[in-house]
Amino acid sequence: MGDIKTVGVLGAGTMGNGIAHVFARGGFDVRLCEVEQRFLDRGLEAIKKNLEREAAKGKLTTDEAVASLGRIQGTLNRASLAACDFVIEAATEKFEIKSKLFAELDSILPKHVILASNTSSISITRLAAQTKRPEQVIGMHFFNPVPVMKLVEVIRGMQTSQATYDAVKELSEKLDKTPVEVNDAPGFVSNRVLMPLLNEAMFAVMEGVATPESIDEVFQLGMAHPMGPLTLADFIGLDVCLDIMRVLHDGLGDPKYRPCPLLVRMVDAGWLGRKSGRGFYQYA
Ligand SMILES: NC(=O)c1ccc[n+]([C@@H]2O[C@H](COP(=O)([O-])OP(=O)(O)OC[C@H]3O[C@@H](n4cnc5c(N)ncnc54)[C@H](O)[C@@H]3O)[C@@H](O)[C@H]2O)c1
Repeated sequence: MGDIKTVGVLGAGTMGNGIAHVFARGGFDVRLCEVEQRFLDRGLEAIKKNLEREAAKGKLTTDEAVASLGRIQGTLNRASLAACDFVIEAATEKFEIKSKLFAELDSILPKHVILASNTSSISITRLAAQTKRPEQVIGMHFFNPVPVMKLVEVIRGMQTSQATYDAVKELSEKLDKTPVEVNDAPGFVSNRVLMPLLNEAMFAVMEGVATPESIDEVFQLGMAHPMGPLTLADFIGLDVCLDIMRVLHDGLGDPKYRPCPLLVRMVDAGWLGRKSGRGFYQYA
């Protein structure tokens, strides 16, 4: 564990840029890998802004923020991840994308390197099976916004070794996060329980039971949730929510996990929540 110095992060979207941020802030060198320069630029810009905001709030010094940013190297070349001691994938939530990535990373990376996925719902056991190092594949599920949220849900695939689990637990603690151990099952614990709640809130909107504002208020005032389910869905990204519901529906086979038709229509329309400017709410 002591020898993890350089960390590879795949994907510089909402989660990937947050993950790169916390590793860099924790003193690790980071290679942040994307598929297109514009996505990489957007991710690096977000990290810069978020580090500056943390410095302005006194959570770290300006020098530390500058040094953290300096530890992140952007790349479009996956082969350059061969220099990493640990790699975490935070690419789009599609099995076809992740399975190809895992097979490719397995061929690029030295044998001892652990391959983690930040997937919200895809089977770690299946991802592990795409590689020749299944015992070194694990789920390391961060929460949004990554620099703020304390939890890392650490998911053991069927093949994950104790040494791999111990290394990721230790790594999470080094990042000042709290790891919680769960076993591999569709949606793990967090999304198995959370997503049906969000999906049901969407059914309530679709059926005219109440407005998004009223539903969110019920949860904020009645259940002391810091944000209501529709605000949270917009924050997570409606496309991500839909992908997760599909994984739950396919993986568990129970009709209670059917994605809300309104969610499907909104994603078809390109209304993806906060990141696209429109979801259940409008954003400037
Ligand atoms: N959004 C959330 O709140 C949240 C929370 C926890 C986990 N997750 C999970 O994190 C992962 C990323 O989600 P996100 O919300 O950041 O999505 P996002 O759409 O914001 O970002 C995904 C990024 O991955 C990039 N990408 C696609 N293929 C790639 C490849 N082959 N190599 C490198 N980059 C690639 C895309 O260009 C995009 O920038 C998903 O697995 C998601 O389920 C999301």
